[in-house]
Amino acid sequence: MDRKISVVTGGSKGIGKSIAEQLIKDGYFVIVADVDEPATTKSSGFVSCDISNYDDVVSLFGLLRKKYGHIDVLVNNAGIIRDNMIWNMPKDDFDFVVDVNLKGTWMMCKEAAKIMREQKSGKIVNISSRAWLGNNRGQSNYTASKAGIVGLTRVLALELGKYGVNVNAVAPGLIDTPLTQGLTEEVMKGLINAQPTKKVGKPEDIANAVSFLISEKSNFITGQIIHVDGGRSIGSTIF
Ligand SMILES: NC(=O)c1ccc[n+]([C@@H]2O[C@H](COP(=O)([O-])OP(=O)(O)OC[C@H]3O[C@@H](n4cnc5c(N)ncnc54)[C@H](O)[C@@H]3O)[C@@H](O)[C@H]2O)c1
Repeated sequence: MDRKISVVTGGSKGIGKSIAEQLIKDGYFVIVADVDEPATTKSSGFVSCDISNYDDVVSLFGLLRKKYGHIDVLVNNAGIIRDNMIWNMPKDDFDFVVDVNLKGTWMMCKEAAKIMREQKSGKIVNISSRAWLGNNRGQSNYTASKAGIVGLTRVLALELGKYGVNVNAVAPGLIDTPLTQGLTEEVMKGLINAQPTKKVGKPEDIANAVSFLISEKSNFITGQIIHVDGGRSIGSTIF
């Protein structure tokens, strides 16, 4: 297939869905890899894949290699939260979040890197979170996973740079998705109040940043963490 091939994990809803739709607009053939099938299938293809399961990840890339022979873009977007203060957090919730968010991203990068290194081109964008900075109580598991993604992104940029592969991360702030729609009104109010721009971001805000990072316009950018968070990573405006 001549079309550029991209994979978006967690592309069935929320930010991932918006990224998948943007990549289609950018001319990519998009394969959504998710545990849930998209409700409305605007993506070009869907593969059922639990990114925390190495067999699923290996079989996804085996299929891609066989069917298309190359992969141009990987967006590691799938992620979950299981918030709690550390003294109340079940160990299983730590394992689950780190397994999906960090280990899943690592395994996807590992299999993609094999193909991209061989073909001497590729772009990987990992979705971290503004929370990687460690300023959310109750998110010790999530923060560990998202800070891990930052470290992973920087090391992979070093390892893959000479093979023509760019690896960057986007760190979203508060974005209106099914994930945040589960937060209480009180928590949402507090989060918005702390935000310099006093608003909630849209999934498209993240998709636009990803679109730039996979384009030719960003060819000299690698190992970077782009915060798309209405300024929240600068500090809180509560005080
Ligand atoms: N929404 C926000 O405010 C916000 C802020 C910062 C970072 N993020 C990050 O952005 C990413 C997307 O978040 P969202 O708000 O769109 O979440 P969401 O819950 O709306 O969507 C997540 C998608 O990932 C899929 N998924 C979950 N576990 C999976 C697994 N093991 N394997 C494959 N797919 C899996 C889900 O089925 C779903 O389609 C996540 O990594 C999240 O941590 C979100």
